[in-house]
Amino acid sequence: MKVKKIGILTSGGDAPGMNPAIYGAVKAAHALGIEIVGFERGYEGILNRKIKKLDITQITDLMSKGGTYLRSARSVEYNTEAGVKKAARICREEGIDAIIVAGGDGSFRGALDISKEGINVVGIPATIDNDIGCSEYSLGFDTSVNTVIDAIDKISDTANSHDKCCVVEVMGRGAGYIAAYAAIATGADVVIIPEEEFDVQESLIKPLLKVKESGKNYSIVIVAEGVATANEIGDLIRENTDLDVRTITLGHIQRGGSPTANDRVYGCMMGAMAVELLALGKTNRVLCIKQGRVTDIDMYEALKEKKDVDRALIRIAKF
Ligand code: F6P
Repeated sequence: MKVKKIGILTSGGDAPGMNPAIYGAVKAAHALGIEIVGFERGYEGILNRKIKKLDITQITDLMSKGGTYLRSARSVEYNTEAGVKKAARICREEGIDAIIVAGGDGSFRGALDISKEGINVVGIPATIDNDIGCSEYSLGFDTSVNTVIDAIDKISDTANSHDKCCVVEVMGRGAGYIAAYAAIATGADVVIIPEEEFDVQESLIKPLLKVKESGKNYSIVIVAEGVATANEIGDLIRENTDLDVRTITLGHIQRGGSPTANDRVYGCMMGAMAVELLALGKTNRVLCIKQGRVTDIDMYEALKEKKDVDRALIRIAKF
């Protein structure tokens, strides 16, 4: 059955690329003659009927905007069976027969719940952590890594001028993608990620002493927040060396900013392809990147997939 009205929402942590995805979806819906609305603040927006008309003429500047135009939230009520049933009933009352969800694995589980109540769903992977198993790439990652690179380049300038060891804590609760990519791209001396065993002497102190012995006057350590804080790593370095240590936590600066080309193009394509899938009567699909191309897979299968940081990245970062 062809869908008549689509609702789109963004859920979980915001990610640059969510806005291009909204833009792509609205553009495609407009072209295909399908009505599209936005729910504000994720699944909460369905439950509270916070529904925004998405007019193509009013969203043309979304491509260059970070964050999410629809805002994002985690809903306690939606996490209950009654909440899901209520959300499906509201969708039906509003004439909405399909929803597009941009977010992470948790957001996709929420989508599957409402699909069991008869609402068609398509997911779009979006999180700066890049840790969604089914997709080589998640919206927001490229923008985030570029923000981190820019910050570490600046930190390196001053670390070099003053012979310091700077420890930079980056986001990534359970995943070291941001840390690993930033380490390669900035030539950092030490990178600590959750996917690798951490030994104080082997992973941290010995490599830093080697840097000093080599004659380099400063050093950069990148630590993913999932392993330790910058302060914890800084204290370990102070206890074991005479290096002049400074610690920096980059924090939420990593989640904002104008989306890069990758996040705009992939975001727009995924948003538009989500509408195309729904227009073809497909449901329970997730858009993802496989071998560099945008494609779609079954949402149940998508949630079973796991991925790991490319070991070559870690090996090269440690040279
Ligand atoms: O969106 C992912 C993420 O940015 C993680 O890297 C980080 O740990 C978390 O969100 C922070 O979430 P919050 O802003 O809710 O503290």
